[in-house]
Amino acid sequence: MTLNDTSSPTGLLREEHQLILKVARRLDHLLALEDDGVGLDYDTVDQCITFFRLFADACHHGKEEDLLFPGLEAVGMPRDSGPIAVMLYEHDQGRVFVRAMASNIEAAKDGDNAAGHQLREAARGFIDLIVAHISKEDNILFNMADGMISGPACETLCSRYDEVCSGRFEGRTKDDLERLAAEIL
Ligand SMILES: [Fe+2]
Repeated sequence: MTLNDTSSPTGLLREEHQLILKVARRLDHLLALEDDGVGLDYDTVDQCITFFRLFADACHHGKEEDLLFPGLEAVGMPRDSGPIAVMLYEHDQGRVFVRAMASNIEAAKDGDNAAGHQLREAARGFIDLIVAHISKEDNILFNMADGMISGPACETLCSRYDEVCSGRFEGRTKDDLERLAAEIL
């Protein structure tokens, strides 16, 4: 893991977005292959679920919710309305989709059609949500954040990002999760 650029409050998060988008696109491709008559690659879908749960949510959304958003609140951005409220709501929606994928994949693999339908609906819902969500963060909220957090506050924020990134996510390091993404891709 390389240390992140401490001159921007969003540089590391934008970088992580690119990896999340790549995995989401890969999952989309797996679903499209199935539409073309190839069986669904459940093992890779399972890896995608783990990646979304631990990298996109625990590691990435964790930094946004626990560090960036409070940092923005500290300089006057409201939490209960506007962009932060929308982003928090969408993180929760994402969790609902990923939980639905996780709770249906085993039965789907065993041939349960209803579970298979739920799994695919949740996967498509998550892909659509995360692509739109990341676009909103990259193009709106993060541009606002870049203008609102600078200097020592920015450096503090970035060093706290590094602390989160050095932690464990259900026993896995961020490097482990990046390797998982490489396997998926
Ligand atoms: Fe994000």
